[in-house]
Amino acid sequence: VQLLQKKSAELHERGIAWRITGVASRRLGWLAQPEGFVQDRLLGQELSQGRTSLSGVREWLTAARPDAVFEATSLSVKDGQPAIDYIRESLEAGAHAITANKGTIVHAYEELETLAEKNGRRFLFESTVMDGAPIFSLFRQTMPAVRLNGIRGILNSTTNVILSDMEHGMNFEESVKRTQEMGLAETDPSHDVDGWDAAVKITALVRVLMKAPLKVDEVERTGIRGLRSEDVQSARRDGKPYKLVCRAERDGSRVKARVRPEQVSLSDPLALVTGSSSIVQFETDIFPNLVITENDPGLETTAYGMLADFITAVVGRSSLVVG
Ligand SMILES: NC(=O)c1ccc[n+]([C@@H]2O[C@H](COP(=O)([O-])OP(=O)(O)OC[C@H]3O[C@@H](n4cnc5c(N)ncnc54)[C@H](OP(=O)(O)O)[C@@H]3O)[C@@H](O)[C@H]2O)c1
Repeated sequence: VQLLQKKSAELHERGIAWRITGVASRRLGWLAQPEGFVQDRLLGQELSQGRTSLSGVREWLTAARPDAVFEATSLSVKDGQPAIDYIRESLEAGAHAITANKGTIVHAYEELETLAEKNGRRFLFESTVMDGAPIFSLFRQTMPAVRLNGIRGILNSTTNVILSDMEHGMNFEESVKRTQEMGLAETDPSHDVDGWDAAVKITALVRVLMKAPLKVDEVERTGIRGLRSEDVQSARRDGKPYKLVCRAERDGSRVKARVRPEQVSLSDPLALVTGSSSIVQFETDIFPNLVITENDPGLETTAYGMLADFITAVVGRSSLVVG
C-alpha cells in the first residue's frame, strides 16, 4: 500500500486507478470492503473497517470483487500451499494473480499459467527470485527468442551474510543468531543454511526460463553447515572466497541443477557479491554471459516486483480494484 501510494502519479499517468477492497492473513481472517479500505487507516494497521464474517478465500473474493490479487503468504517448500489454492481461486474468480511466493512456481507453474490464459488473466511472479529485480520480465518482455543454456548465481542472502560474517571472524552459530535478529533467517535456519531456499529459487528459474520440469528434490544440494570459520577466512585470504553457488545447465533434453559452497576466484563477479546482495549470470545463445546484480535489496524492492507485475497485468484498463 505504501508503494502504491508512493507511485500514485506514475500509476495515474498509465491510466491506472486503484483501491484496496480485501485484506487477508492467517491471524486477521478474511476482510472485505468493496468500496475500498481507507488507505491511511490500513497503513496504521487499523483493520476494523472490513467485513469479517467471511469464511474462506472463495467468499472473500466474491465479497471483495478484486481485479488483481497480491499473494504473499509464507513459503511451503513441500507443496506450495495454501498459496496455490489462493491463486487458483483468484484466477477462477476473474482476478489477475501476482505472487512473491516461490512455492507456487516450483509446484504449479504450468497449471497456473494455463489457468490464467484460460480465464484471460495474468499470473505473474517477479518478486519470487531476487526480490523484485527484473528477471522473469527480462526474458518475457525484452529478450524474445533467446535460448537460455545455463544459469549460475548467488540467490540466498542469509547464507551470503553468514559467509561474509565468517570471513570477518564470527563463528557460524553467532552469525546465524545475528541473521535471525536482522529478520533474515527464520527461527529454524535450516531453510537457508541447508540450501533449500537456493534450491527452490534455481528450480523456479529453470521451470520458467528453461522450460524444464525440474523438481526441488532433484537439485543436488549441499548447504554451508559443514564450513568452518578458519576455512572461510583462509579461502578469502587466498583470494578464493566461498560462496553458496546455484547452477543449472542443459544435459541433453534435461536440465541438471545443484546448490553447493564453491570457492570462486576474485576476478569472478560472484566474489564481489557480499552481505544480503545477490547475483545471477545467464548463459544464452545470444548473450554468452549476461549478469544481473542486486545490491542491498529491501522490502520495497520486493513490493516493487509486485507493483511492476500489477502494471503489466492491468495496463490498458482504466479503473481497478485490488485485493
Ligand atoms: N520478505 C522478503 O523480502 C521476500 C522477498 C521475496 C519473496 N518473499 C516471499 O514472500 C512471501 C511473504 O514473505 P514474508 O517474509 O512476509 O513471510 P512471512 O513473514 O512468513 O509472512 C507471511 C504472511 O502470510 C500470512 N499467512 C501465512 N500462512 C497463511 C495462511 N495459511 N493463510 C493466510 N495467510 C497466511 C501470514 O499471516 P499472519 O501474519 O496472520 O500469520 C503473514 O502475514 C513468502 O512466500 C516469501 O518467500 C519475501
